[in-house]
Amino acid sequence: MLRIGVVGLGTRGRTFTYILKNYPGVEVVAGADPVEATRAKAQQETGLEKLYTDYREMYSAEKLDAVIVATPDHLHTQAAVDAAKAGLHLMIEKPLATTVADAAAIRNAVKENKVNCFVAFGNRWNIAFASLKQQIAEGQFGDILLQSVRLSNVKGVAGKLNWNPPSSPGWFLMAHTVDLGLWLSGKKPVRVYGAGFKKELVSMGYDTWDSLQGTVTFDDGTSAVFESSWVLPNSFPSGIDFKYHIVGSKGAANLDQTDQGVHLALERYTYPGTTHARFDGQVHGFTAWMAQSFARQLIDGNFVGPTVDEGYTVTRVVEAVHESARTGKVIELG
Ligand SMILES: NC(=O)c1ccc[n+]([C@@H]2O[C@H](COP(=O)([O-])OP(=O)(O)OC[C@H]3O[C@@H](n4cnc5c(N)ncnc54)[C@H](O)[C@@H]3O)[C@@H](O)[C@H]2O)c1
Repeated sequence: MLRIGVVGLGTRGRTFTYILKNYPGVEVVAGADPVEATRAKAQQETGLEKLYTDYREMYSAEKLDAVIVATPDHLHTQAAVDAAKAGLHLMIEKPLATTVADAAAIRNAVKENKVNCFVAFGNRWNIAFASLKQQIAEGQFGDILLQSVRLSNVKGVAGKLNWNPPSSPGWFLMAHTVDLGLWLSGKKPVRVYGAGFKKELVSMGYDTWDSLQGTVTFDDGTSAVFESSWVLPNSFPSGIDFKYHIVGSKGAANLDQTDQGVHLALERYTYPGTTHARFDGQVHGFTAWMAQSFARQLIDGNFVGPTVDEGYTVTRVVEAVHESARTGKVIELG
């Protein structure tokens, strides 16, 4: 039995608990969160009984094999490093970390302690991208030449996060698309130019970026452009706008994940998210497939990731987009 503890029992931590608690071969043993009301909500929603205010107590009191780190973007590092030092395998929510120094600390701890670290880039399990990846791997698109990607949120999403700042549309959103861009193309990023601005969210009291755009050049001279913003009007029918354009030497594709064919006319007219849904006592959809894959990889002893090295590279690219937007300079990744 794979024994898992969950660090951070907010939206994602509770979802992962619910997904894995009935998964064959897995026992979600305990969870930790400093906020009493959140622990109570986790108990009520997931049935999790063993709850800790401090994850360090959970690591020492429980016999665990692995932990899931689902704390806010800038708070993954210490919980992850402490878990690796305790010999626990890891699933860490994206982004791996919000500085290259933190990402390196996690990577070093993972390697020194010989544990497996899976970074939760869930869109790899999104069937639209998974099938595109399969077709690219089969050679149907030839060499990937360019990608142009937009993943943005309405203002209301940014306003709901109580850890915005220090997060940004770069860390919260672009980490997903940069991972997809590297994974789909299989290319090595060498240079980043970024642009962005702080206007609207600052006027609402949040000192973070409204919008970031990053141009990434790969080692073969091909390139990709990533855009993420947090200032779409709340009247937008979906919480997200997600468009993926990819061109290869033999073919091209356009994926639109904004409208997934479901339109609801309730109080408002909306396009709801379809990443996962609960029925028959289980969670279904790509969020579940990802968490189940993490568990299966550990149970089967066949770890393929997304790996800590891939998470580190994404953090390096996204940090460079922020740095370039701040300084106006092109960043060489070396
Ligand atoms: N893959 C996706 O599609 C996706 C979607 C949403 C969020 N996320 C990521 O998941 C992570 C969590 O997001 P969320 O929406 O669940 O946030 P959230 O704010 O709902 O939950 C975070 C929880 O972490 C707890 N926490 C803070 N410090 C802690 C500590 N030291 N020990 C234990 N718990 C601590 C908070 O009290 C809170 O309950 C973020 O990194 C976010 O970017 C990923």
